[in-house]
Amino acid sequence: MSESLIRNLPGMRDLLPEDIAGWQVIEDYARRIFRVYGYSEIRTPIIEPTELFARGIGGDTDIVGKEMYTFRDKSDRSVTLRPEATASVVRAYIQNSMHRGKGVAKLCYSGPMFRYEKKQSARWRQFYQIGAEALGSEHPALDAEMIEMALGLLESLGVKSKLLINSVGCRQCRPKYISFLRRALQQELSKLCEDCRRRANTNSLRVFDCKIEGCQASIGNLPVITDNLCAECSEHFSMVQTHLNNAGIVFEIVPRLVRGLDYYVRTAFEMVSDDLGSQDALVGGGRYDGLSEVLGGPPVQAIGFAVGVDRLTMVLPLEQRETGNWKPELFLAYKGEAAFNKALYIARKLRRKHCTCYLDFSEGSLKSQMRLANKIDAAHVLIIGEDELQRGRFTIKKMQDSSQWEVSLPELISYFKS
Ligand code: HAM
Repeated sequence: MSESLIRNLPGMRDLLPEDIAGWQVIEDYARRIFRVYGYSEIRTPIIEPTELFARGIGGDTDIVGKEMYTFRDKSDRSVTLRPEATASVVRAYIQNSMHRGKGVAKLCYSGPMFRYEKKQSARWRQFYQIGAEALGSEHPALDAEMIEMALGLLESLGVKSKLLINSVGCRQCRPKYISFLRRALQQELSKLCEDCRRRANTNSLRVFDCKIEGCQASIGNLPVITDNLCAECSEHFSMVQTHLNNAGIVFEIVPRLVRGLDYYVRTAFEMVSDDLGSQDALVGGGRYDGLSEVLGGPPVQAIGFAVGVDRLTMVLPLEQRETGNWKPELFLAYKGEAAFNKALYIARKLRRKHCTCYLDFSEGSLKSQMRLANKIDAAHVLIIGEDELQRGRFTIKKMQDSSQWEVSLPELISYFKS
């Protein structure tokens, strides 16, 4: 009796070769754009102490409260698969004394993140982010540069998005605003959903995240943070807008934009797409000036963003996706053992010259090999039969116009070199 089939876990998926072209195009563009803005890559572990996220992201958030993959390792430590990378980057920055270097540390990363979220379209439990963090400055021009870089990535890929910005205040003005908000929420309590009633007393800002229609009406009656900023935050926010205007960047101020992580202060932003349905955020980011101290480090002002690569691939224009497609330059079709060995030899020579070669190991007929060459869209086919072997001249066929001619091995090599 055969065993039952093992499948992947819900919310996890295989990214198959036919899906991957778009991913590689995005990664290539991101690498290029990060380089021109002066970012260097950092790779942090996928598993971290649970406390890093509990403290960094905040115990009252959905991510920490409901969505983390947390378990005990063999030494009975509580460990967590990272739900995001900002906390890890800040931990690495402090631990490796990067704050002692000169100037702003500009770090970028990419990789899988894990959140045990409700299954929904455009929400996966393992998803991928590409992100950037700049640590060591509170200058509003840095906020604008960070936004410009994220937008530049989307624009270079031909992806349309809308930029939403807000200021969520600082440790001085936000507590005052939150007690004001709490009082206002008491008036609305009976009209709110169960989750929001709980949030009203624990993490009041989260009420703004609720997508339930009944709550939306009440949310409209609540005071907004932008009307309650201290003078410094107000000035900072207005300077960020000036720098964005100077860079010709169009934005919308959304005073109810709060982000799902507690570390944000001042600038918060998202880039959303009309083509994504209810999970419309492609990019999320903002300033997190107090996070280093929360993690036991020195005061460090910082800002960053992360783009959701899974979502980005969903809105990537087809022509962009196709530029990442892999196609063989040359398919080597052979008949018989000696021809097969010759094909291996020729492929080896050409690959050293960076020519993409493909040969079929299933030992099919010449006809079936030609069919396969067509199917995988090979640009040329080289036919190696007994006759060709003896003469040392091979037939090459250009698939686009079906023209064919004979070549010696040196002629073949110089053809692909050019
Ligand atoms: P976030 O808003 O939680 O921010 O995530 C950033 C982006 O990751 C989202 O806009 C979305 O595109 C994608 N994303 C999030 N969850 C999922 C999911 N379950 N499935 C698919 N895509 C998802 C952060 O993670 C912050 N660390 C960003 C940041 C960096 N802030 C400052 N620096």
